[in-house]
Amino acid sequence: MKNCANDMMESSERYVPVTLPSLPFKDREFDILLSAHFLFMYADRLDYQFHIKTLNELLRVTKEEIRIFPLVDLEGKRYAPLDNLISYLAENGCTVEEVKVPYEFQAANANSMLKIKKG
Ligand SMILES: C[S@@+](CC[C@H](N)C(=O)[O-])C[C@H]1O[C@@H](n2cnc3c(N)ncnc32)[C@H](O)[C@@H]1O
Repeated sequence: MKNCANDMMESSERYVPVTLPSLPFKDREFDILLSAHFLFMYADRLDYQFHIKTLNELLRVTKEEIRIFPLVDLEGKRYAPLDNLISYLAENGCTVEEVKVPYEFQAANANSMLKIKKG
């Protein structure tokens, strides 16, 4: 049987609370970075400038690849400036792909992720 108290102590040591768009990590500290259920979901309160700043910060701390899921807001609408953001990343040397995934978080459309490979 698992000891939940130990699990919680272990995870509280590993959990680092942060507030984007800044991260307290070194450049290229992580091989891969996953962002789930946050970035584009709150497009009603986090604007395009926040997304650009955050993506630059995620790129800074990552060596190889970033994956962001989902690409829709809370109403299931595709993040409106996604194409602009993809162009911005491509202009900055990244290879960007929208990839369908077998998991669907919300009822409609929430089954794609953005795969960003650093150039
Ligand atoms: C829907 S939850 C997703 C949590 C987790 N990523 C998951 O998939 O279970 C969104 C989280 O974003 C956090 N959040 C909101 N604004 C943030 C910011 N500026 N920087 C970092 N986290 C933030 C909230 O506190 C909340 O825990």
